[in-house]
Amino acid sequence: MIKDRIKTAFIQFAPLLGNPGLTLNKIQSLLSTLPDLDLIVLPELANSGYNFTSAKQAFELSESVLQSDFVDFLTGFAKTRDIVIVTGFNEQEDAKLYNSSLLITPGGIAGKYRKIHLFMNEKSFFEPGNLGLPVIDVGFCKLGMQICFDYIFPETWRILGLKGADIICHPSNLVTPYAHKVLPAQALMNRYYIVTANRIGTEGDITFSGRSIISDPEGDIILEAPRDSESVLFADLSLEKARNKNLTALNHVYHDRFPEQYKDLGC
Ligand code: ACM
Repeated sequence: MIKDRIKTAFIQFAPLLGNPGLTLNKIQSLLSTLPDLDLIVLPELANSGYNFTSAKQAFELSESVLQSDFVDFLTGFAKTRDIVIVTGFNEQEDAKLYNSSLLITPGGIAGKYRKIHLFMNEKSFFEPGNLGLPVIDVGFCKLGMQICFDYIFPETWRILGLKGADIICHPSNLVTPYAHKVLPAQALMNRYYIVTANRIGTEGDITFSGRSIISDPEGDIILEAPRDSESVLFADLSLEKARNKNLTALNHVYHDRFPEQYKDLGC
């Protein structure tokens, strides 16, 4: 079913590093306040927290998608509320860890992305993503995923646009000030929405920067959360706007490309 208005929320909060039970309680209570929506985006590593003190801790706080109270709760919630959820997830598979994003529909897990571009110490804990850049048709629109630092690599945004994504869900644990310069520009350049769900709080020597945002196909920020408080904010996203790829009557951001002139990119 195609809807024109996609009711979308981001959940900005602080997962509790080392306490997955309390983190899940917090998510349950935040989600219980929501009105009827189509799409919810949660931050990066929402099941575990971020700033692990050791590989052992990162591993202990990881979960398999097949054996996870966190996933079980979100799949149940998506089914009961007939909603799509995208969430960051510290994923364990075959004794390897991935910084992943799960796309959960009322029918269960419908897609998964694994962060390709690892930031700072993440390189000590996670494998780089190996699932490419999926775009998933959830019935009412097409969703792509990026995770936090991926935002600095323009190729990923373009690939998702070329695959027809209407909305990019971007679970994040941002720490540097650069994302807010990039995200609206990428939304404009690719003429889609970007929903960035960031986290708040401090873990060890890292303070996360909040300010979760939704950027629209005109390059405007249509919603922005405060820097340091828990926030559940929602907006209506227009599918018609995301599917209009014309910047002017004579300029279409995909049809006007000249890939044969871009061969120096090497891909
Ligand atoms: C980041 O990629 N979590 C900064």
